[in-house]
Amino acid sequence: MPQELTDVRQISRIAYGFMGSKALFAALDLGLFDIIAAQPATLDQISEKTAVAKNRMATLLSALVALGFLVRVEKSYTNARATQRYLVRGSDVFVGDYYRLQIDKLIFPSLLGLTDGLLGKATQSMQQMLADPDDAALFSEAQHQGSMGPAVLLSRRLNLTGCTSLLDVAGGSGAFSIVLCRRYPGLSSIILDFPSVIEVSRRYVEASQLNSRIALIGGDALEDDWPDHQDVVLMSYLLSAVGESSIPTLLDRAWHALSPGGLLVLHDFMLDVNRDGPREAALWFLFYTVQRSDSSSFTAGDLVEQLDHRGFTEINSDELIPDLTGLVLARKPA
Ligand SMILES: C[S@@+](CC[C@H](N)C(=O)[O-])C[C@H]1O[C@@H](n2cnc3c(N)ncnc32)[C@H](O)[C@@H]1O
Repeated sequence: MPQELTDVRQISRIAYGFMGSKALFAALDLGLFDIIAAQPATLDQISEKTAVAKNRMATLLSALVALGFLVRVEKSYTNARATQRYLVRGSDVFVGDYYRLQIDKLIFPSLLGLTDGLLGKATQSMQQMLADPDDAALFSEAQHQGSMGPAVLLSRRLNLTGCTSLLDVAGGSGAFSIVLCRRYPGLSSIILDFPSVIEVSRRYVEASQLNSRIALIGGDALEDDWPDHQDVVLMSYLLSAVGESSIPTLLDRAWHALSPGGLLVLHDFMLDVNRDGPREAALWFLFYTVQRSDSSSFTAGDLVEQLDHRGFTEINSDELIPDLTGLVLARKPA
């Protein structure tokens, strides 16, 4: 349930929120959490290791303690438990680069254009943003870190026993294909994404040593042909990134790509049934408003209705990442 604001301090907390985000991103850029991961450190030690003068580092440390990222005990600073687990490089659930590279370097500057986006003056589609190979690499490498955890969650939710073919539409770095192929040895996947992104997928697929089971196609999912006779079609974070009128096109294409009895898997930001949240999902849809003037936010119910209309059966929806993303599963009748 969203909470009604009753105090100006609550408004300030939201208005100043981006300053906290920036403190986090700066700490990640400086490797600050890594420096104190093994043992607590003093201002002098942190200042020396980061090459940030003591007066300025003291200011950052105060902000990070105030935000809860660090804990100060007398003159020593340690990482808070969540910081130690998720923001220290080398942890198997490290997501620091996702925040540092994707959220700070790409999403934050994009959101500066939100008012223009809302007024229908969206200027930069995802395709344009990812056309530059360096930006495509930055975005997709960060996305890989952000998607590995959800991919594991998804792999536990699905039963793909007996499935041999997966089409991962807009598969990005290949996080979902890699995790699903590892879990199901009989499964092979095809990742379809923009050519600039496919170059990044190639690196991750090679590193995972799944080259013989994961094929790559560079193209536009709205324009180019999709391979058919698929047991599973997956679209993760694609429907939110395209215009409202493209969602029916993608669902039609999925229908045609699936074999009879095949499974459609939709994973994306989704609003609650009353559209009042979850908070982070509602905020993510704002990003797409900056990207495209024809973008729209949706609930799982909106997708279920469109799938039902197309003749899909066994339609189910659920949360995947708590308070952030939803999962809709549907089957093409056998
Ligand atoms: C947020 S990323 C998600 C990547 C991957 N599905 C995942 O969940 O990790 C969105 C992906 O959609 C791709 N994409 C967006 N529009 C596309 C289109 N029209 N055709 C192919 N790929 C597209 C982008 O290149 C990007 O890789």
